[in-house]
Amino acid sequence: MAARDTSFLLIGLLVLFHTWGAWANVEVNMEDRVEVYRGEKARITCMFTSSDGVGGNMIQWFYVTRTGEKQKIYYQDSTMKVVDKGTPFTDRISVNGTGADGVIVLTISNVQLDDELEFICVIKALTDGTGEGRTKLKVFETPGSPTIEGVQTGISVQEENPSKIGTCEVKNGYPKPNITWYRNKTPIRAAQDVVKVVPTITTKSSGLYSVRSELSMKVKKEDKDDVFYCEVTYFSPEGLRMTETSPINITVFYPSTAVSVWVESPKGEIKEGDSIELHCHDDGNKPSSLISISHEDGDSWDNKMVVLGNVSRLNSGVYTCTSTDTDAWDTVSGNTTVFVNYLDPAVVIPKDDVEVSQGEELTATCNALSSLQTHTVWFKDGVKVSMGHSLDLKDATFDTAGMYKCVVTVPEFEGMETSGTLNVNVNGPPQIIAPEFTEFEKSFEAMVNLSCDVRGYPAPTVIWSTSDGKTFLPESKTDTDGVVQSVVSIKVTSDFTAFCNASNDFGTDAVSFNITATKHTPTPDTTTTSTAIPTVEPEQAIPEPAITEQAIPEPAIPPKRIKKEGSGVIIAVIIICILLLAILGSVLYFLYKKGKICGRSGKQDLTKEVSSKDNIVVEMKSDNTEEAVLLGVNGEKQLQNN
Ligand SMILES: *[C@@H]1O[C@H](CO)[C@@H](O)[C@H](O)[C@H]1NC(C)=O
Ligand SMILES: *[C@@H]1O[C@H](CO)[C@@H](O)[C@H](O)[C@H]1NC(C)=O
Ligand SMILES: *[C@@H]1O[C@H](CO)[C@@H](O)[C@H](O)[C@H]1NC(C)=O
Ligand SMILES: *[C@@H]1O[C@H](CO)[C@@H](O)[C@H](O)[C@H]1NC(C)=O
Repeated sequence: MAARDTSFLLIGLLVLFHTWGAWANVEVNMEDRVEVYRGEKARITCMFTSSDGVGGNMIQWFYVTRTGEKQKIYYQDSTMKVVDKGTPFTDRISVNGTGADGVIVLTISNVQLDDELEFICVIKALTDGTGEGRTKLKVFETPGSPTIEGVQTGISVQEENPSKIGTCEVKNGYPKPNITWYRNKTPIRAAQDVVKVVPTITTKSSGLYSVRSELSMKVKKEDKDDVFYCEVTYFSPEGLRMTETSPINITVFYPSTAVSVWVESPKGEIKEGDSIELHCHDDGNKPSSLISISHEDGDSWDNKMVVLGNVSRLNSGVYTCTSTDTDAWDTVSGNTTVFVNYLDPAVVIPKDDVEVSQGEELTATCNALSSLQTHTVWFKDGVKVSMGHSLDLKDATFDTAGMYKCVVTVPEFEGMETSGTLNVNVNGPPQIIAPEFTEFEKSFEAMVNLSCDVRGYPAPTVIWSTSDGKTFLPESKTDTDGVVQSVVSIKVTSDFTAFCNASNDFGTDAVSFNITATKHTPTPDTTTTSTAIPTVEPEQAIPEPAITEQAIPEPAIPPKRIKKEGSGVIIAVIIICILLLAILGSVLYFLYKKGKICGRSGKQDLTKEVSSKDNIVVEMKSDNTEEAVLLGVNGEKQLQNN
């Protein structure tokens, strides 16, 4: 501007000088520059004033060639308008206006890059005064969309020189566009030996520029998540503009610096039989690095993960994970110690079977080797009999005999347990368990089944004999409690006594059964050991008039007690007693109702007693007289038979 002002000043001085001699003064005003896109129309305006007035001036348009010469392209005066032949503008220019209003416009159509020149407007007044103005024409072309291309292969942090990151390109712009690289929103600046940005500029014959920029960098592990992109800046008639490329990622390869290995599952303690899963992690990502997990005993797996099924204590130990960089033969490793807990099978001492004499003492132990604290419990027939690994049996009796089981558990582990058994036999002479009934009456030719249960160890031999000299050796069976059960079936031909004789190394025992043969056919039931009574129904069929409100009903006396075959006398006595008690009970009840008895605690006992007996009384008195009679008849018969 300063230069222009100066030139205006000079022109002004010149004009003044001319005016001094030729009395004419021309002043020309033009824009500094006119900016236009390639292919469009450019309008260059020339405004002037003259002391002679604006009419009748001579107008000329020039441009400045690349060599700096003025080349005329147009001439106009009041008589003619001439476009100069043979210039680049011959066919593309037109000039509007006569100059009469002091404004003249040069229009250049289809502006080309080569048109970027300086244009001069020269006005010559009639009185020999001259003025000129200059305008620079600026031409623009918007470049195409920029492109970016990243390297597809990974970049190792161990590279010594900057590695290529990517290339950006922008084509066909004018004037030359610029490319700037960005990393995570920050412009990248070239730095010696670390960051290189190499632009390549190509010009087409049309004059348009294409720019390519290649970015190279030394990468660090921290750069692995960085994104890169390019920004393109270019000038346009509207000002400075910019566009961006899409971002790219890079793959950074870095070696391991730390490796860790751990048991992924199970979490917590491990026991034999578990499946364990070992995982390894290294902080590197080089494709050339190899990962392996190995056990101190030499097993090794070329993997980041290993599953060991059904582990045993042999799988305990140190596991090492190693990451080997095959490029540099560097190794990094980490390790973990695995411990597999165990519980061995229980060992019971003494082994399997043991014999102990009656009255003596026995100590057994049950041990299971384990890596953890154990808990031992002894059971007999499912009942806990002792805690701790040792079992002390004092003063052995036949009840002591049986199967003992020790269960060893690990409180820390649900389901980790083992067990052992011990069979204890108590030596002693046979002991016949007193039979319920030893007196039977049976009809002729009927079979009577006699049963004899004997305890004793070694298992006693049971021999049956009868008073008439017969002996039987029936099969005996021993139940789990070591009780020998022997049953015989004998045909009743007359009254007789049967003996059950049991013997073993330690002694003998015997029991006798008296069988009475009846002449009449008794009840069809021939089961001597039967407890069923055909006539007495349970109490539910009987109303309960005798039970007081407070009284707790007691179950009826089991009828089998009443109707014991061959005990007719006893039954009769019992019935009489019951009747007496019933009467007493009724009286007491009556008195109670009358409010004569006041002692509550005494009353409680009495009523209890009464209620239980009453059931029988009621049976006798109940509407079901048939039953009562039957009972009576049965009792009568038995009496007779005796
Ligand atoms: C391009 O960069 C050069 C050098 O820094 C600068 O002079 C020019 O103005 C820039 N052009 C654009 C379009 O940003
Ligand atoms: C770059 O990589 C990250 C992680 O792999 C991904 O989330 C992101 O979308 C990627 N960005 C581009 C531009 O590819
Ligand atoms: C069985 O025991 C009885 C009573 O002790 C005895 O009289 C009888 O002789 C014994 N019989 C045999 C076969 O041992
Ligand atoms: C006696 O025992 C035999 C065989 O054990 C059996 O078949 C029979 O029914 C029994 N008799 C009685 C009256 O229980």
